[in-house]
Amino acid sequence: MKTNYIFLLSFMLIFLVGMALPVDSTYPILPTTPFDYSTLNLPAHFTTDVPASPLPTSINGIDNTPVDNSVTDDGATLGRVLFYDKKLSANGTISCASCHQAENGFSDSAPLSIGFDGGTTGRHSMTLINARWYQRGRFFWDERALTLEEQVLMPFQDPVEMGLTLTELENIVSQQSYYPDLFLNAFGDTNVTTDRISKALAQFVRSIVSYSSKYDVGRAQVSGIGANFPNFTSEENLGKQLFMQTIPNGGGACFGCHTTEAFVSANPGPQNNGLDLTTTDQGAGTTFPNNPIFESRFKTSTLRNIELTAPYMHDGRFATLEEVVEHYNSGIQAHPTLSPALTDANGDPVQLNFTATEKAALVAFLKTLTDSTLVDNPKYSDPFISTFTFQGTIDDDYHTDDNWDRGFTPPTGFEGSIFIDSDCISEGNLPFDIGLGTELTTKDGVTFEIK
Ligand code: HEC
Ligand code: HEC
Repeated sequence: MKTNYIFLLSFMLIFLVGMALPVDSTYPILPTTPFDYSTLNLPAHFTTDVPASPLPTSINGIDNTPVDNSVTDDGATLGRVLFYDKKLSANGTISCASCHQAENGFSDSAPLSIGFDGGTTGRHSMTLINARWYQRGRFFWDERALTLEEQVLMPFQDPVEMGLTLTELENIVSQQSYYPDLFLNAFGDTNVTTDRISKALAQFVRSIVSYSSKYDVGRAQVSGIGANFPNFTSEENLGKQLFMQTIPNGGGACFGCHTTEAFVSANPGPQNNGLDLTTTDQGAGTTFPNNPIFESRFKTSTLRNIELTAPYMHDGRFATLEEVVEHYNSGIQAHPTLSPALTDANGDPVQLNFTATEKAALVAFLKTLTDSTLVDNPKYSDPFISTFTFQGTIDDDYHTDDNWDRGFTPPTGFEGSIFIDSDCISEGNLPFDIGLGTELTTKDGVTFEIK
């Protein structure tokens, strides 16, 4: 037995040390106590308006959360699973996260996204960050969804994106073994309805908010947005000034449209920021057909994490922030619905005439809005797929009885099983629970690692 053990252990060391094991589970691995989605530890600058500021700076009064769907930890947990569940598409290949990836600021790095059957979306994917702070509460570039609850059911039914009917969606959800508990926790019983699917997804999306960027660290140290931030380079402070200042004062008036500490689009809604001389996409014009002012106007979502959400604009036409800044600097087109904020005294498109230093500063400032806590935060991560670190010792019985729980202390807080597929480990669902980054402690101290 002992010889066997040493032989097998070295065998395992050869095969397992340094191996990357993506664990592709068909069901989600979730914490026993749900992550905290409901508490917002907003810094004071989010909730306090700067006195005498011409524009509201706080997010007070702009939260679009409806009274009957506030974010709960269990509701958003269900939403997270639905968001990452590829089974909820016509051929089981696409989830919401396929086009809204955390590492890309919950947008997509492709100008147009690929749907379940290889088709492309009509527009560029949008970030989901700070969706809750869009006061008008409408969604999509053209604002065609009246609420977030309405919006989150639309991708499922979109013939390019996920290709289901709502009945099919309900059926697929009802057939999965892991959903009854999640619905019970979130809504008090196990009934699966599209209304509940919509509410849970909307809760998850509204939980994705950003308030922990370099910008926030600096902002917390000064009384108003205008003051130089002590943690900023002089270039970043210059960029901030250009972002905030009006055009006659030498700035770009960006804050007028990308506004409040959430850097969301302002209350008047969709704008035409001068991308095209003639209409190439009706935008909000289709949603508000009786009001010609909406033609070629688009919603913009938050600029927080904008560094990660490239490419830019409703059609993903700009690959970099440098191109975006150059657009505002010299490329604004004279369309009939061009926002007056981007015209000069004669009604012509403004020319900002920024120097190369100023353009670089504006880009540097936009990058201070990057919030890395959203990128790899477990509570926003894919519960279905994970790579994990495995540390522990196999007891000498492991091979004969195949009983992998012997000699391991299962980590607390994680549920679900893991399928390990390897030459020297028997295949199957292991009888103990394990989660992301878990360290297994064992009784006899020999440690090896699977990464
Ligand atoms: C195939 C890619 C794809 C899939 C799958 C997808 N989306 Fe999107 N999403 C997009 C695109 C593209 C847009 C912008 C479309 C437009 O405005 O016309 C968008 C827009 C949105 C918006 C609007 C954001 C805003 O600020 O107005 C939300 C919210 C959203 N998606 C959530 C979801 C959810 C939830 C799911 C899953 C149920 C999902 N998406 C699935 C590509 C996708
Ligand atoms: C008149 C309002 C307005 C002003 C002023 C304005 N923007 Fe925009 N911005 C928009 C709109 C509307 C969009 C989305 C347009 C589209 O995609 O069709 C947008 C898009 C963007 C985007 C890309 C967002 C994304 O998700 O792809 C960036 C970055 C941006 N603006 C930065 C700036 C900067 C920097 C300034 C100042 C130089 C500025 N904006 C001034 C209205 C404005």
